[in-house]
Formats: sequence, structure tokens, C-alpha cells
Amino acid sequence: MRRETQIAEARKLLHYLDKRTTALADDVYRNPVTDYTSPQQLERERELFFRKGAFCVGLSALLPKPGDWMTHDFSGAPILLARGEDGSLGAFLNVCRHRGARVAEGSGSDKTDFVCPYHGWCYGLDGALIGRPDERSFAAAERATHGLTRLPVAEKYGLIWVSPDPNGHVDVDALLGGLVPDLAAFGLDTYHHYHTRVMRRKMNWKLGVDTFGETYHLQHLHPTTVDHLFYSNRCTFEAFGPNHLMVAARKTMDVLRDVPEADWDVLDNTVTLCVLFPNTVFTYQRDHIETWHFFPGDTVDECVLYLSLYIPAPVDNPKSKDHWDRNVDILIRTVEMEDFPTCEGMQKGFSSGAQDAITFGRNEPALQHFHKSVKAALGNVVSAA
Ligand code: FES
Ligand SMILES: [Fe+2]
Repeated sequence: MRRETQIAEARKLLHYLDKRTTALADDVYRNPVTDYTSPQQLERERELFFRKGAFCVGLSALLPKPGDWMTHDFSGAPILLARGEDGSLGAFLNVCRHRGARVAEGSGSDKTDFVCPYHGWCYGLDGALIGRPDERSFAAAERATHGLTRLPVAEKYGLIWVSPDPNGHVDVDALLGGLVPDLAAFGLDTYHHYHTRVMRRKMNWKLGVDTFGETYHLQHLHPTTVDHLFYSNRCTFEAFGPNHLMVAARKTMDVLRDVPEADWDVLDNTVTLCVLFPNTVFTYQRDHIETWHFFPGDTVDECVLYLSLYIPAPVDNPKSKDHWDRNVDILIRTVEMEDFPTCEGMQKGFSSGAQDAITFGRNEPALQHFHKSVKAALGNVVSAA
């Protein structure tokens, strides 16, 4: 985050602490429960966001070196990402151009080519078909036109974005809009990947994004895990197109009151949360970065998600490994034992007939903004009550 933004957000937070308030939306917003239960809406979301759109895969640190590669199947499309010898990142459909088998599974390093396990067609890191057994039998199917199908991919500000649509495009600046300067200021391309955890939960994918959309719940849902670290219901909010930025106050925040602004260590006393629309939550926490990526599961009430933790320096001793392992454990325990079970209960409740809409308070502007942005993208009229 840029220094001027840090100061501005910290001033707001200190004001909110003084006045016992938080960033406020203009009004209460009633969000229909069908937002989380409608198979028709989910189908439109899949088409718009996860088949035709672009989403953030994570930080460049997922694939730091030439020869690094990974598969990514969460959007429903079989995606293969690979960093070529020249350092450029390629994205392809993980579909052999012979008869369609997957050419790679999982992830790894030091690859020079991908050999299809079915009949041995061989592709370079740039997706080009570079060899195949019994070449003579395929003479009329030219090699030059049988490389892996390329997908639009972009790597900018230390973030990787991809579209599963071969005819789509990815424009990171257009996607992030006004969020760019503050995201870029984190120096994301200097981070190292520590861990990625995949989870499957019985809740709509947007409930996952919602988990990170307010601090109103902290003292109630997380009395023993998070409440002692952060002020509840004290948070800034700024919208950037469909994206947004939130800064929440650590309980150490008040130390800033005794220091001149020029010496404020804002990042040490806050946590930054951004939604990179539609499905990525980025958080900056003092000494590390987390990214959460939510995708629809097989049905409207299921999602698959992955959390990646990125750290400022590679782990080179047992003490630092222990430190980061404990970070991952606390993080996953909090969301898996407290947030996500609550969301799964909500998901069941949505279908119960209890209410037609849920209520986002004025103190939940990020939730209002996210859901209005989804509706706007889907072309619905947003109805506020
Ligand atoms: S399907 Fe890949 S080589 Fe035959
Ligand atoms: Fe939470």
C-alpha cells in the first residue's frame, strides 16, 4: 500500500476507534438468498466469471523459475501454466491435441517438455508440439498447428491472471483499475510461496468471499482465535470498480497516537484485505501475504477454494519453518473450525424458507459492494430495500 494511502487509512481508523464507528454504507442492503441458492444464477456466474472471464491464480512466486509448471482445474477448465526458458509465462488447455488426454498432472519444477502419457506426443514449455511417435502417420496433421491450445495469461505487479477462454483476453490494469498503485506498492514480485491448501466446503463460493468482507463478526465468532488481535467492527472501505480495499485495525493500533505521523508504522498495526473481483481475496498481514481463491463446486451449495501463503524470504532453517507452519495452522483452524462451518449453516438456512433476503448492515459496505458488483456484472437490476 502506498505511504499516502497508509496514512489516510490509519487516520480514518483512529477516528473510527475514537467515535466507536466504522466505514458505513448509505443504507441497509437486502440481498436475496437466491444469490446463494439459484442454480440459474450459478450457471450465469460460471459462464461469465469462470469460463469467459479472467481470475487471479496467485502470485508469480507460484512459478518462480524457468521449467516451473502447475495444473489448475478449479474453474472447471483444465489449465496448465508453465514458465518457459526465457522466463515468460504460458497458459494452455491441458488437453493433448492428438486425442485429448491430459498432458500433465499436479505441479513441479525443472520441466523441459510435457509428454502425453497416452501415446507420447511431446510439447515444449511454450506449448509447441515438438515430437510424436510415428510421425509419418500424422503427416497431414501438421505439427505447427497442433500445439497445446493457448489461453490468455498475464503477469503483472507480481500477480498471475488467466482466462480459461482461448478467445478471451486478460488486461490486469483494466481488471484492477484504481487498486493498482496500492497493490503494486506491496512489491508482490519479491515474495516466496510457502504453502497452498485446497478445501472443499458445502457453501456457495460467494459465502467464502463474504467471510473476509467485514470485521463485525470477529468478537462473536472468534473469541479465542482472532478477537484478541483485531478490533471488531472497525474497518475502512474503498471501492475500485468491482474490487475493493479494506483496512482493519489491530489492537496495537493505538500506539500510533504517541508517534508523529511521519513515523507511523501503519502496516504493522493493521491488516489489509482486498477483493480482486470476482473470486480472490488478498490479505496483507504484517510479515506475509495470503490469497484466497473461491470457485463454484459441482452444485450451487458447494465450493472449492485454495489458500496460498506467501512469505518475504525463503525458509532456510527449522525455526522459521516452525513459525510459518504455526501461521498456516492458526489460519486454517480459524476458518475451517469457525468461519466455514458457520457459512455451511447459513447455506442450509438459505433453503429453509426462513427469509427471502439477508440483511447487510450499513457497517458492512464491502459485502454490499461485492454483491452489487456481482449483480451488475450479471446484468441484474440491483434492488436495495
Ligand atoms: S492423446 Fe495424447 S498422445 Fe494420444
Ligand atoms: Fe472470520
